[in-house]
Amino acid sequence: AIDISNLRSATGFITLDTGYKNTGATKSSITFLDGELGVLSYRGYPIEQLAEKASFLEVAYLLIYGELPTADQLSNFSNRITKHTNLHENFKKIFDGFPSNAHPMGVLSSLVSSLTAFYPGAIDPDANAEVLDLTIVRLMAKLPTIAAWSYKNSKGQPLMYPKNNLDYVSNFLYMMFALPNQDYVIDPVVVEALNVLLILHADHEQNCSTSTVRIVGSAHASLYSSVAGGINALWGPLHGGANQAVIEMLEAIKNDGGDVKKYIAKAKDKNDNFRLMGFGHRVYKNFDPRAKIIKKACDSVLAKLGVKDPVLEIAKGLEEAALNDDYFKERKLYPNVDFYSGIIYRALGLRTDLFTVMFALGRLPGWIAQWKEMREDNEPIGRPRQVYIGSNTRDFVPIDKRK
Ligand code: ACO
Repeated sequence: AIDISNLRSATGFITLDTGYKNTGATKSSITFLDGELGVLSYRGYPIEQLAEKASFLEVAYLLIYGELPTADQLSNFSNRITKHTNLHENFKKIFDGFPSNAHPMGVLSSLVSSLTAFYPGAIDPDANAEVLDLTIVRLMAKLPTIAAWSYKNSKGQPLMYPKNNLDYVSNFLYMMFALPNQDYVIDPVVVEALNVLLILHADHEQNCSTSTVRIVGSAHASLYSSVAGGINALWGPLHGGANQAVIEMLEAIKNDGGDVKKYIAKAKDKNDNFRLMGFGHRVYKNFDPRAKIIKKACDSVLAKLGVKDPVLEIAKGLEEAALNDDYFKERKLYPNVDFYSGIIYRALGLRTDLFTVMFALGRLPGWIAQWKEMREDNEPIGRPRQVYIGSNTRDFVPIDKRK
């Protein structure tokens, strides 16, 4: 057998950067962020201005097509999306097959994957621009319907068909919360808060789910399959799943007597795996600019809706205690976007396991834009290397000789 312990192959040395902490995988002109300064912009427009002045669909158009839409372009984009909000009737049979306690993120990724079965034209990597454009519109249109129907299904309630005279966010709320033969009033405060939340989540350069979308797509897998991969990555509690984990943590603190300091101590204890969910960020080592905007929206939503919730009081106490604690200060661990988004979703009456679904709805235009950029730039298939640290080459041992 060859002794591989000292081999150096013709490809030379390999850069080892586990977790890609400082390795650029692509060039991109979509999102700029500076984690030290706490700056974020989409296509050059500061996130603060977009959150204040734009609609979610306007931002989606900007991310996907590179420029803010004119009034005509926006109404065309919005009308096309509206026309595609319905799901094929066979989807109902798929929903029927899921147990009522299925996690909506699992349902979402399965159903997005299954869109390839309904629209196989998207599988062809050489499909023309018209097919790609239709795929983009279908994804934007159908994701809210899939999300709302998976919620309805889990509640055992009748599925509500999209109401196409409503705007994107209102239509989603209608499909989620309306019931047949009952009036449902859409609260503008809720629509406005969701619009801002979706914009803030719309892209965040090469995060875990977006890198997943790009790497799946780099094998020339369809946009549907790539986005389904992104949804699965986003589900993880260290990524988008953190917004659900935040509320679960706050509830646990409340049920344990509400002693915030005890949990701060647990988070600092290196012999304890507990981390404060919703604190810290891989890139932001300063206050996350999205968290600043959300914090404001959070205060205003809670005030406008008149929500009084002991869990939200625990959140405030935890935030204050962490911001004044040396451990968190030294490590630059600030509340991230997920800390406040979970609180807003709860105040809006969304069930905890839907929080990450909301994140996915927001991140969708970013995933689409990044996938499109990667394919338009003809990027090669993503294929990281490794540094092998396993056994030296050894001879096969027959089963009766193994110990
Ligand atoms: N609570 C307590 N300590 C923490 C936390 C936390 N939430 N986050 C980081 N630390 C500590 C680490 O223990 C480490 O301490 P050490 O230097 O003494 O060893 C130091 O801060 C650096 O942490 P890393 O894990 O190296 O930072 P990394 O960049 O790898 O992780 C992450 C970033 C995953 C977000 C981490 O901060 C975390 O687990 N936070 C909680 C989960 C969360 O909120 N995720 C949402 C991310 S935002 C998003 O996806 C939109």
